[in-house]
Amino acid sequence: MSKKIIIDTDPGIDDAMAILLALKSPEIELVGLTTIFGNVYTPLATQNALRLVEFAGRPDIPVAHGAEAPLITPLEAVADFVHGRDGLGNVNLPPPQGQPIAKAAAQFMVETVMAQPGEITLVPIGPLTNLALALALEPRLADHVAEVVVMGGAVTVNGNVNPAAEANIINDPHAADRVFTAGWPVTMVGLDVTLQTIMSDDYMAALNASGSPTAEFIYAISRFYRDFHYDTHGLAGMHTHDPSAIAYVLDPTLFTTVRGPVRVATEGIAAGQTLLDRFQNWRDSNPWTGQPAVNVCLEVDSERLLALYQQRICQL
Ligand code: BDR
Ligand code: CA
Repeated sequence: MSKKIIIDTDPGIDDAMAILLALKSPEIELVGLTTIFGNVYTPLATQNALRLVEFAGRPDIPVAHGAEAPLITPLEAVADFVHGRDGLGNVNLPPPQGQPIAKAAAQFMVETVMAQPGEITLVPIGPLTNLALALALEPRLADHVAEVVVMGGAVTVNGNVNPAAEANIINDPHAADRVFTAGWPVTMVGLDVTLQTIMSDDYMAALNASGSPTAEFIYAISRFYRDFHYDTHGLAGMHTHDPSAIAYVLDPTLFTTVRGPVRVATEGIAAGQTLLDRFQNWRDSNPWTGQPAVNVCLEVDSERLLALYQQRICQL
């Protein structure tokens, strides 16, 4: 039986790469996209989500417009220097034909999950505001999702926005702390693993040469993202952030995980830092005490993940 998922997304080049992986995988039924700010502002995220389902020939997949600002901290900027002004590598895609549904992202999540208890996996690959709002609307959501697979955070490596914080978490640290402590089955696919998997220039050239229109599209939109990696990290390739979350849904055995409560710093110079308590044996109680354990991915079989991605994207 296929896994039903909702992807909460800020497309975003690697978001597009993740969404297309889901759409090319028979084990996954994509029941909706919900949108959020981050790589772009939410209205453009919604337009891009519509563009992606239309490109994939799946305009039937509902797109729900999400929150336009974090719960508490102001939204200062978006990552156009990483993803391009249009969020998809400045390739000037035509406007979408379709419209978002007349329901906010959080409401869509609540209604979809509650109508099919235990069947829906939420896969947030942007800031976690919509999930926090959905939990506030319907606290029983935590008991009715199948799983929550988060791309975000870093526990054994530095952040990618500053030494403390990863982008999706720093964009709404209060929401992230609620999501990690809500008592639902969360898996964190963070920089610990996503930085380990590199889509090299050679790998991308092979994808592009495959003759698959999806692979050619991914190659075209990802040139801007590749150049960001080269200019910033001297990397002749790209880190594999959002597609890793979909890879986890497809095959959790690609990853090695540990368990423990994760809290998020919400203030100060380390705001947005994700901190895992692997030990839970402190003498005195602390902010992790009594919080539910989540799964945190620490290692990945990158070779197998890249082979899976290539196989799915290149199939005609
Ligand atoms: C995350 O931040 C965004 O730029 C990417 O789309 C990904 O979700 C990586 O830190
Ligand atoms: Ca993203």
